[in-house]
Amino acid sequence: NTWFVLVIVISYCLGNISPSTLQAREKGIDIKKAGSGNAGTTNTLRVLGPKAALVTMVVDIAKGALAVSLACIFAPDAAMYCALAVFIGHIWPVFLKFKGGKGVATAFGAVVTLDWRLGLLSLVIVVLAVLITRKVSLGSIIIGLAFPVECYFMKPDFIYVGTIMALLVLFKHRSNFVRLIHGEEDSISFSRFKKK
Ligand code: G3P
Repeated sequence: NTWFVLVIVISYCLGNISPSTLQAREKGIDIKKAGSGNAGTTNTLRVLGPKAALVTMVVDIAKGALAVSLACIFAPDAAMYCALAVFIGHIWPVFLKFKGGKGVATAFGAVVTLDWRLGLLSLVIVVLAVLITRKVSLGSIIIGLAFPVECYFMKPDFIYVGTIMALLVLFKHRSNFVRLIHGEEDSISFSRFKKK
């Protein structure tokens, strides 16, 4: 029905809102050409600093949460497809020449709204992985691998869509994977980045 299609389209458009791209543009920087070239929290921290990174993370999570919330109100059956749509809108935004981010924060916002236990467990896994390894991308790759397993046990009806999202997260991290293998990935130090 109309609402079903409408909330999915709105979700995709919400995904196109890129706080990382917009904040960088304000400072005359093209985030796609700076640091890792990714329009996400980690690269915003790297290029613009902690304040802009915090704004990026909050807005990217919020748009995922908003997309699923709108679905829950207007077309509950579309909720999980809206999670996928806002995530794809973030990764491949038509309004930003398809140059977006890697989807982790937006996926979190969508998933935690869909099922708070699944979201919370994913958050714990990412935070622990990042605290232990100091590599944000490794945390993202680990959750990309763990998420389908989480869905299998906690939300089986989300297994197909959830696995597609997890595979896309892994696909988007292929350059990070290569950097990790070669020991060239940045380590996080909370306020700034160190090489290795
Ligand atoms: O989710 C993004 C993060 O895992 C890696 O970001 O900028 O280091 O490629 P970046």
